[in-house]
Amino acid sequence: MKVLVTGASGNVGRYVTNELLKMGEQVVATGTDLVKLQSLFGETVDKALLDFTDSTTYLKALNGVDRVFLMRPPHLGKPEDLFPFIDAMKQCGIRLVSFLSLMGVEKNTIPPHHKIEKYIESAGIPYAHIRPGFFMQNISGIHSVEIKEKNQVFVPAGNSKTSFIDAEDIGLSIATLLHSPEKYQNTAHTITGSKALDYFQIADILSKVTGRKITYMKPSYLKYRNYYIKNRGLDKAYVNVTVALYFMTCMGTAKAVTTDFTKLTGKQPRSFEEFAVKHINCFK
Ligand SMILES: NC(=O)c1ccc[n+]([C@@H]2O[C@H](COP(=O)([O-])OP(=O)(O)OC[C@H]3O[C@@H](n4cnc5c(N)ncnc54)[C@H](OP(=O)(O)O)[C@@H]3O)[C@@H](O)[C@H]2O)c1
Repeated sequence: MKVLVTGASGNVGRYVTNELLKMGEQVVATGTDLVKLQSLFGETVDKALLDFTDSTTYLKALNGVDRVFLMRPPHLGKPEDLFPFIDAMKQCGIRLVSFLSLMGVEKNTIPPHHKIEKYIESAGIPYAHIRPGFFMQNISGIHSVEIKEKNQVFVPAGNSKTSFIDAEDIGLSIATLLHSPEKYQNTAHTITGSKALDYFQIADILSKVTGRKITYMKPSYLKYRNYYIKNRGLDKAYVNVTVALYFMTCMGTAKAVTTDFTKLTGKQPRSFEEFAVKHINCFK
């Protein structure tokens, strides 16, 4: 039987796919853009169209599948957007679903991940929730523009600390869960890096790795919000969500460090410095 990966072209899904392939699993890589999936994975995986907003795509994608990696695309803000697909997984007798959730969500009912976890549990589908801290890819992705163009880290996180984790390590954790479905039934895992860093330390590491002086600007929420909406042209609703996340970060919600990654994989999580060296091109 095969493992279906949702958001297979995303930050985490691409690594889940690669790690499952290394473990000898057959993978169905899914998303709304089959051309993107073809260019990422070629013939190494089966590919299927799966659009959470179009229930006619579900059953074909789930054909021959007994395990699923489930992620919530960031623009689908309502937990209910994922419920019809969860119902379809139940109908197909899925043996394990690993949902990409969020650190601390077991005690925080506001993010959509909380309700999605609860919906999976109440559907009675065996689950292995993965609750990661902030991705290192936020720095090499959305926030890399100011680093490249202005040598600035422009994030409204004050003096707070974050236990960043590499999406590649999250992918390995999820593949490990899905590869042993009986062992990990009805479990939850909070995955973080081995150290919490503040953004001054992030800027110092980036300075060392790039050889340029990179400065943490510590902007206010308002300055960050205006800049990201007016100068970067990003969607207002999306920017508001990130402001809320950085507000929570400043309250200390992103700094916990766990050893769950090592317990699952027997490895140490990648450090931010190792990550920055590996992804140096994102900062040039
Ligand atoms: N960033 C962080 O620090 C962080 C921390 C903890 C948890 N998270 C959670 O991680 C999730 C995001 O994961 P990510 O960064 O791997 O995602 P991502 O890189 O933003 O990728 C989104 C994926 O969703 C797919 N997609 C878009 N619309 C879709 C639709 N209508 N139906 C099905 N698939 C669709 C896209 O593929 P196509 O283009 O092919 O459709 C793409 O592969 C979010 O739920 C976020 O809350 C993020």
